[in-house]
Amino acid sequence: MIGLNEVIEIEQNYRDEIEFQADLTLQRLRPRLQEVWETIGTGASEQELFDERLQQYWSPLFRRLIKLYGSRYDFFYHCEQVLVTCARSFAERSDELRETDRRRVIEPDWFQSEQIVGGALYVDLFSENLCKLRDHVPYFKELGLTYLHLMPLFAVRPGNNDGGYAISNYRSVDPSLGTVEDLRLLADALREAGINLVLDFVFNHTADDHEWAMKAQAGQREFQNYYYMFPDREMPEQYERNLREIFPTVRRGNFTWHEGTRRWVWTTFNSFQWDLNYGNPAVFRSMLDELLFIANLGVDILRLDAVAFVWKRLGTNCENLPEAHELIQAFNYATRIAAPGLVFKSEAIVHPDEVVKYIDIGECQISYNPTLMALLWESLATRRTTLLTRTIARRFSLPTGTSWVNYLRCHDDIGWTFDDGDAWTLGINAYDHRQFLNRFYTGQFEGSFARGVPFQENELTGDMRISGTMASLAGLEKAIEEEDEWGKELSVRRMMLLHGVTLSIGGIPLLYMGEEWGMLNDYDFVRDPAKAGDSRWIHRPKMKWEYLEELDEDKARDSLRRRIYRSLQKMISIRKSNRAFAGQEMKLIANSNPHLLSYIRQCDGSRLVVIGNFSEEEQSIDGNTLRTAGLGRFFVNLLTDTEYSTSLPIRLDPYDLLWLKSV
Ligand code: GLC
Ligand code: GLC
Repeated sequence: MIGLNEVIEIEQNYRDEIEFQADLTLQRLRPRLQEVWETIGTGASEQELFDERLQQYWSPLFRRLIKLYGSRYDFFYHCEQVLVTCARSFAERSDELRETDRRRVIEPDWFQSEQIVGGALYVDLFSENLCKLRDHVPYFKELGLTYLHLMPLFAVRPGNNDGGYAISNYRSVDPSLGTVEDLRLLADALREAGINLVLDFVFNHTADDHEWAMKAQAGQREFQNYYYMFPDREMPEQYERNLREIFPTVRRGNFTWHEGTRRWVWTTFNSFQWDLNYGNPAVFRSMLDELLFIANLGVDILRLDAVAFVWKRLGTNCENLPEAHELIQAFNYATRIAAPGLVFKSEAIVHPDEVVKYIDIGECQISYNPTLMALLWESLATRRTTLLTRTIARRFSLPTGTSWVNYLRCHDDIGWTFDDGDAWTLGINAYDHRQFLNRFYTGQFEGSFARGVPFQENELTGDMRISGTMASLAGLEKAIEEEDEWGKELSVRRMMLLHGVTLSIGGIPLLYMGEEWGMLNDYDFVRDPAKAGDSRWIHRPKMKWEYLEELDEDKARDSLRRRIYRSLQKMISIRKSNRAFAGQEMKLIANSNPHLLSYIRQCDGSRLVVIGNFSEEEQSIDGNTLRTAGLGRFFVNLLTDTEYSTSLPIRLDPYDLLWLKSV
């Protein structure tokens, strides 16, 4: 048997060997770099800069590549392609973007600032097209946004395109939205306004009419290898044994029969979204080229779509495999070399233990926080914060230099991705609890305030996810229908409570546009045949610009929408003027009231206490809890200017939220 020391030595030797190989490969490839510099006319100082970055990142990139593709006989060729792709993209990067790169290399934690507040929207539903979107930059500034995620806007297949996630060409914009030039102009306008641009990198699959898929369909073997295509059911069936179904109402299983090629194609999502085969290094190289092209359009943050599914291996569930991480890290290191101003955001809507594995300076620097999202809704339904508190106590902290993106609703459904074990220790049966939450949010549970609808109900497993806008899920739709004034009041408070948490708990808060007006479910989506089969369209309503008139008190006296908009705007501006909200440092405050969530936020010596009441009953917290935590004796709630003394119990109204600063 070999001892630990020997193991360490073997690993060290292996690492030395890889370093050596990385270096040697680079030396051999240098002449190819020279060719790129000469063709593009890259200056000496730029070349030097590129060299510096290679010093730092070539070796970690090479290490990932050798792990993924080292056994290929043509590995060296693919390394060359990757290096040349990085060099070319670097050489073509604009001066402004180079400047951003320089700044962000010096200040890599820029996205942790309290100034960063995000919004996400569909260009067509918000402003018709990219040109008109540029006119709305003042709207974003007015609300306080400094991060704008535009839902996929590249060329898509005709008919159903999964809200832009079935891309036929990563280098051209959907003509109904504009052109690549319009996108560049918009990116410039946003940069000038201090707003970061976020776009998707839909890299798990292409549309079935992408050029590569068309070539595959024409029988070109080189491109058939870009996808997973099987002549018969043998392999698909072996894989299926361990696979989940993501869109069970679209089709059973994960494979789609393609009549033209007489092959089964791997399609995790819709049948027209063909999964890319990253086992093939040519796919990695080609997609890196697309990634860096998108980066050079002026993108600040790239949302990596469906990261969990990008690597498959027989005998596994083909989700969250170690190779998926190596792959994303390889994309990341290539990006550090060619476009280091760009940050990766992970979209992993999976078990919390898996979500965090994508978050690292060397992988995705920021990530959606689906667990917090789901549990905030869970707390609203149960009026209890026990599962939420237990979960964040164990699962909120992240590696330094990384950050959560905290959101409440997005363009997708809500899935109840908490940990069954966390629930079990609180005596909650996870299966039953998910059933309850589904019934609650589809309005079937007696007394429920929510008006959501099912998404992807799986009759075999009883599984279901929830669609619906924030306002409809929080009770506004029902209260309006029933002309229930108190119900309306409570629903607005619920929304503000949730916003107050995502704006303060640590990380980037992300609004889904429409939330600022409390927009309700849009039941008309069923009229469009390309959307009718997908209930997520219920929470993708069209922007109603006439709402802006309600901001004028003379035109609309008692406008709920004005109240929602103004309250949110105010919260955002308070966040932005308090340094305590920067960074990720959050400490829960233990308290014995199961309806409250309470925590301390601090950064650079500035400190705030947040307390939220998740029930429609009045609640209180012992003033001593705050005092003995050494936090001070007198506080002011920044949201209302109300003062509190810790010698008395601190009282919270139904769904009240306090942002307390010691005075
Ligand atoms: C992502 C998107 C979702 C889409 C899926 C397939 O999860 O958020 O909208 O359906 O990927 O691209
Ligand atoms: C699943 C996937 C997620 C995707 C969603 C779309 O939850 O894990 O990536 O966004 O389905 O509904």
